[in-house]
Amino acid sequence: MDGRWIIELDRKEKKYLYQQLAEAIRREIDTRSLEEGEPLPSIKRLAKELKINPATVVKAYEVLEKEGYIEKKLGSGSFVKDRETQILNFASGTPSYDFFPVEDFKKIINDVMDNDGARAFEYTEGQGDRALRVALKNYIQKYNIHTNEDHIHVISGAQQGIDIIVKALVDQGEKVMIEKPSYTGAIGAFRSRGASLIEVPIKNDGLDLKYLESILVEEVPKLLYVMPNFQNPTGTSYSTYQKHRLLELAEKYGFYILEDDYLSDLSFYSKDSRTLKSLDRHHKVIYIKSFSKIFMPGLRLGFLVVPEELQEAILEAKLISDISTSGLLQRALKEYMERGMWERHIERLKTMYSRRFDLALDLIRREFPEEVVFKAPKGGLNFWFQLPKTFDFTKFVKDLEEQGIRIARGEYFFLTPPEEPSFRFSIANVDEEGIRWGILFMAELLRKAFRRKGRIEDREKQDLIL
Ligand SMILES: Cc1ncc(COP(=O)(O)O)c(C=O)c1O
Repeated sequence: MDGRWIIELDRKEKKYLYQQLAEAIRREIDTRSLEEGEPLPSIKRLAKELKINPATVVKAYEVLEKEGYIEKKLGSGSFVKDRETQILNFASGTPSYDFFPVEDFKKIINDVMDNDGARAFEYTEGQGDRALRVALKNYIQKYNIHTNEDHIHVISGAQQGIDIIVKALVDQGEKVMIEKPSYTGAIGAFRSRGASLIEVPIKNDGLDLKYLESILVEEVPKLLYVMPNFQNPTGTSYSTYQKHRLLELAEKYGFYILEDDYLSDLSFYSKDSRTLKSLDRHHKVIYIKSFSKIFMPGLRLGFLVVPEELQEAILEAKLISDISTSGLLQRALKEYMERGMWERHIERLKTMYSRRFDLALDLIRREFPEEVVFKAPKGGLNFWFQLPKTFDFTKFVKDLEEQGIRIARGEYFFLTPPEEPSFRFSIANVDEEGIRWGILFMAELLRKAFRRKGRIEDREKQDLIL
């Protein structure tokens, strides 16, 4: 620190000092006040100048190193890493780990171990720790899902949830309907159990209902797997009409809807982000909740709300799969929820993600050429783009990769990819500066590809109606 950059830490702020420090240094690097290859002050010196514990500086440097902002050189300290070597991973839908409430969770784990001792390490009930199920029941009441703890099953992540449901309900060769495009992990789980998959195209407000009914009148599949809010990968939200219609069809034709609610909490502009489960009067919906996008994916925790008649089969499939989900983590999650930390965390997360979301949306609208087909999502973390058949997508991806920018190729989300290239752009893992830089770079490539010199200042107003 030679006076060129100023760090102010606020001890009254809720954020830990090491997070504040990491954020301040990150800002200096992003704005180029600290340049590539430049040495950072030694731990001792920075701690002394800021009147903080050296351990706080160590932690901040560790965070920045993990994020790829700085690198340690043995014996000579820490340096700002070359910009070119930083990866902007827009392909990943996994949240940034600087959003993980690690300190709070550490304290809770310690409390659980102090209070429960060895009991925390026993097998729990296969269906999940009862006290946690009660906490989950109370949590989903706020989302208008009214059930009791007997219908809740704790699972080791939504991926396991999908897998055990197929294992329990779908026999080899039986038909399962999925959205087109759909979540790759679900496609994999269905295929691995020998399900025969039928894709139902996604339109602006949900599924192509005509197409869906044409399947139903022929032969009724066992399941329909959907993500009605901020669908992965397209970001589409089902209209209220669609939600009700799907439930009617499930009742009329007698199939189950597997609702994967991985993100409805991150609603920014949606007028109706209700889940199908909250509208399910005839018990046709099997509800899966993942905590990976809104909490910490490595915990491997999620839960199901299961109709009465399917309880036994699903419980059996869960037992065969992994006996039970980690008891220690279930106890910790229960505490986390009961102490009101969960709600605070979600609020914080929403604020941070909504900033990223608005920034991305604004830039996309202003900078992307109109040849790129794009419909603004109303929440969530994913943006979906479709390009003309003639577009050189291989070159586009290569040019991006050379700059360390990764996107998820659309083809991964289809059983048979369409000829028109597409891609998913997720804001889960990249901070605001990275989003700005990434989108501007991408827009420049796209404009060049479509031989456009100027910007499209005033993109379609209709998708501004959120
Ligand atoms: C739509 C969807 N469902 C389920 C999962 C898996 O979630 P979990 O980490 O809870 O297994 C993911 C992860 O990316 C996802 O995108």
